[in-house]
Amino acid sequence: MADVVIRIRPNGPLLVEGPIKLLDANGNEIELPQGKPAIALCRCGASKNKPFCDGSHKNVNFDEEARQES
Ligand code: FES
Repeated sequence: MADVVIRIRPNGPLLVEGPIKLLDANGNEIELPQGKPAIALCRCGASKNKPFCDGSHKNVNFDEEARQES
């Protein structure tokens, strides 16, 4: 079993569980929220607390189906 599990929430964030390091575009480590079993990473682009989800996906009616390209 993998140590890290990433779950895609329907029309919402990516939930990441397990021991990870999160780095910004310059390679700097981003402090992770403490005391939570998982972190939620925004995939809608609307969060005001990127890279974390702040629930804004609900306000913008994020629809993952509409964003998938084939
Ligand atoms: S996925 Fe939740 S704010 Fe973007």
